[in-house]
Amino acid sequence: MLGARAQGGWRALRRCASLPRAVRLRVREALGAREAADAVRVQGWVRSVRSQKEVLFLHINDGSSLEHLQVVANPSLENRDLTFGSAVEVQGKLVKSPHRKQNMELQAETIRVVGPCDIWSFPLKMKERHPLEYVRQFPHLRCRNNTLGSLLRIRSEATAAIHSFFQNNGYVHIHTPIITSNDCEGAGELFQIEASSEVRGSAEKTHFFNVPAFLTVSGQLHLEVMAGAFTHVFTFGPTFRAENSQSRRHLAEFYMVEAELSFTESLQDIMQVMEDLFKTVTSTVLSKCPRDVELFHKYVAPAQKDRLEQILKNKFVTISYSEAVEILKQASQTFTFKPEWGCDLKTEHEKYLVKHCGEIPVFVINYPYDLKPFYMRDNEDGPQHTVAAVDLLVPGIGELCGGSLREERLPFLESRLQRLGLTDAYQWYLDLRKFGSVPHGGFGMGFERYLQYILGVDNIKDVIPFPRFSHSCLL
Ligand code: 4AD
Ligand code: MG
Repeated sequence: MLGARAQGGWRALRRCASLPRAVRLRVREALGAREAADAVRVQGWVRSVRSQKEVLFLHINDGSSLEHLQVVANPSLENRDLTFGSAVEVQGKLVKSPHRKQNMELQAETIRVVGPCDIWSFPLKMKERHPLEYVRQFPHLRCRNNTLGSLLRIRSEATAAIHSFFQNNGYVHIHTPIITSNDCEGAGELFQIEASSEVRGSAEKTHFFNVPAFLTVSGQLHLEVMAGAFTHVFTFGPTFRAENSQSRRHLAEFYMVEAELSFTESLQDIMQVMEDLFKTVTSTVLSKCPRDVELFHKYVAPAQKDRLEQILKNKFVTISYSEAVEILKQASQTFTFKPEWGCDLKTEHEKYLVKHCGEIPVFVINYPYDLKPFYMRDNEDGPQHTVAAVDLLVPGIGELCGGSLREERLPFLESRLQRLGLTDAYQWYLDLRKFGSVPHGGFGMGFERYLQYILGVDNIKDVIPFPRFSHSCLL
């Protein structure tokens, strides 16, 4: 049987005689068809051409699946422009394939080259498994490579799964602004926005918006506004950080998933959502894109599949920051940065902690008060003063998620903002604590780091569609 969409196409064709006879199928639909069909049209790009005396074989891909559709044609249909990389439209009969490895194949009656491809200057070569480092040099062409094709389908499926997870759990999706005047994390890693000099002209204004404006580093503060009216909200959008690090896990532009929950007094509730989000989205991706994920688990990170399956079955571990520092101090390994209570955990420390806990995701909770941003809730403990913060660390990557309970008590927030000299800038934020304030908290998960982790990709630039401005410097 043909898929429902294809059947719909057949019916429409029977009703309207003026339409072309052939039904247009995506490669994925053609491959999954359960019975033969007489007049089918497939459009895509040629992934291989093999010309024999009696028969011409083509492989066509249109991005709908990792597998290509085999086209079998009479050699008389061959022409000069029919090369690897060219765009084609093939019309013919869809038949059961005699080959064990494929279900259906297309017996071509006509082949039209829609867009030729100069194979000599085209940087991708037929049947070559190009390394990720090689295809990274061609950001505008690398989506035609199998690995990047799989990555982009997985990325699309994971995006949908993240939205479904929150929608199914009663969260309202909020579009938080990209241009903002606040520095949520207080780390000063901001890209400032100004109009170009042509727009500014001779105008006297110093700033386009009259005040300094930046690309957002997090949608959290805007989500907190919404958490004053909706008990569960989330956002999933682009985030920007002007970090000057050339690491394999930092981007200048990345996507962050953020959630905010009202009437939440315990960090455990936030951690439960992080763990559920991770496990639900990963299970969905594994079941919806098995072949695409398999490509990574076979060629990019062998053994990652087994590790992931183990992780999905087990509960994540929780340790406190103070315990983490003790573990690090007792480690036989020597670190570049000596672990001390009150100092930030570096990637080398995070990776060690994950290994120490059995190479599974680890929540580290209750970080030093002085290390964390102003919005985190004071644990009122001592002498080692902490806030109710949590980071989720994962094997090979380090920090995947960061979250906290928020300081909902007006006097605590007022005095912290005053000490930081931020009272005027955050009057509106203080208002949220004056009008119906509730205990609340939330977290953010880096989407690219998530993909890096589940697929076992070493360099974060290989999990984004366009790597040009991906890093602190141009590629
Ligand atoms: O830990 P971060 O800075 O947390 C926040 O921004 C909170 N306001 C989120 C919240 O509570 N709503 O960032 C969250 C996550 C990190 O754990 C990391 O995975 C990712 O965002 N991240 C980056 N990913 C790629 N490149 C960068 N430069 C990143 N910086 C942070
Ligand atoms: Mg963080």
